[in-house]
Amino acid sequence: MGLSQFTTILGALLFLRQVAGVTQPTNPNIIIILIDDMGFNDVSFHGSNQILTPNIDAFAYNGVILNRYYVPNLCTPSRAALLTGKYPIHNGMQHFVQISDEPWGLPLGERLMPQFFRDKGYSTQLIGKWHLGFWRQDHTPIMRGFDHHFGYYNGYIDYYDHTHYMLDSNYTAGADFRRDLQRCHSDNGTYATEAFTKEARRIIEQHDLSRPLFMVLSHLAVHTGNENQPMQAPYDEVAKFEHISDPKRRTYAGMVSSLDKSVGQTMRALLDRGMLNNSIVLLYSDNGAPTLGIHSNSGSNHPFRG
Ligand SMILES: *[C@@H]1O[C@H](CO)[C@@H](O)[C@H](O)[C@H]1NC(C)=O
Ligand SMILES: *[C@@H]1O[C@H](CO)[C@@H](O)[C@H](O)[C@H]1NC(C)=O
Ligand SMILES: *[C@@H]1O[C@H](CO)[C@@H](O)[C@H](O)[C@H]1NC(C)=O
Repeated sequence: MGLSQFTTILGALLFLRQVAGVTQPTNPNIIIILIDDMGFNDVSFHGSNQILTPNIDAFAYNGVILNRYYVPNLCTPSRAALLTGKYPIHNGMQHFVQISDEPWGLPLGERLMPQFFRDKGYSTQLIGKWHLGFWRQDHTPIMRGFDHHFGYYNGYIDYYDHTHYMLDSNYTAGADFRRDLQRCHSDNGTYATEAFTKEARRIIEQHDLSRPLFMVLSHLAVHTGNENQPMQAPYDEVAKFEHISDPKRRTYAGMVSSLDKSVGQTMRALLDRGMLNNSIVLLYSDNGAPTLGIHSNSGSNHPFRG
C-alpha cells in the first residue's frame, strides 16, 4: 500500500471518529463516585473547618447540592438500592451486610443499572467495592452488567495488602482483589484510594469516545480497613492534620484528604479527555460515619446523631 492510500484510510478513520465522538455527542457519560462511610460533617462545604476538602467543595459549588438525598444505613442495602432503584425491603436486602461466608446476594432476578446502560451502548465499569454477593460466580459484578471490574467483593480490605480479614469471626485473612474474574496481585502495596484512582484514569484515558461511559468508582475510603489495623492513610496526607490531636481522627482526616485528591484527579482526567462537558457526575456516601462498634472510623455526622 502506498503512503497516500494509507493516509487516506487514516484520514477516513479520523473523520469517522470525529463524526461519532465529537460533532455528534453521545449520550452523557454517567460517573458515580461512591464513598464508603463518610460523615456528613467531614467535608468543608458542610462546614467542617477541621478537614478541608477543596476538590469535593469545588465539585459541590459547581453542581447541585442534594441536601435531601437519603440512603439506607449500611453498605449492602445502600448499594442494592443504588443498582436496582428499589427500597431494599423489596428484594430482601434490608437486614444487614453481606458477611464473607454467607451464601446469598442481590437476587439474580433483579435487573441492574449497568445492564440498562449496557443495552443503551454504554461501556460499563466498576472500580472498587461490590458487597452484593459473590458466593457463586453469577453473583459477581461482571456477570451482572459490568464489562469490567477492578476491586474487591467484601465490605472492606486492608488499604495496602488488599486482604480481607474478619477478626471477630476468627477467619484467616485472604486476598480479595480482582481484575474481572482473575485474582489480582499487581497492585499489592498500593494504597487502595490511589490504586482505584489510577484505574479510573486509565479507563477514562483509554475510553472509546464513540460510546458513552458508565463508571461506578466505589471507594474503600473512608471505611475502616481490616479490624487488626482499621485506620490507614498515607503519611503525607495525615501530616497535613497536625492540628487534630486525636490520632484516630487525624488518620481519618488523611483518608478523607486522599479521597479528595482522587476526586480532583478523576475530574481532571475527564476534562483532559474532553469528556467532562458531556458527563453527569454524582458523588455521595453510601451512608454516614459509623460512630459505634468495630467499624467506627471517628467520622462526624454533626448536626445529625449516630
Ligand atoms: C474466636 O476465637 C476466640 C479465641 O479462641 C473465642 O473466644 C471466640 O469466641 C471466637 N469467636 C468466634 C466468633 O468464633
Ligand atoms: C499482598 O502481599 C502480602 C504479603 O506477601 C500477602 O499476604 C497478601 O495476600 C497479598 N495480597 C494480594 C491481594 O495478593
Ligand atoms: C466538549 O469539549 C470538547 C473538547 O474541548 C469539544 O470538542 C466538544 O465539542 C465539547 N462538547 C460539548 C457537548 O460541548
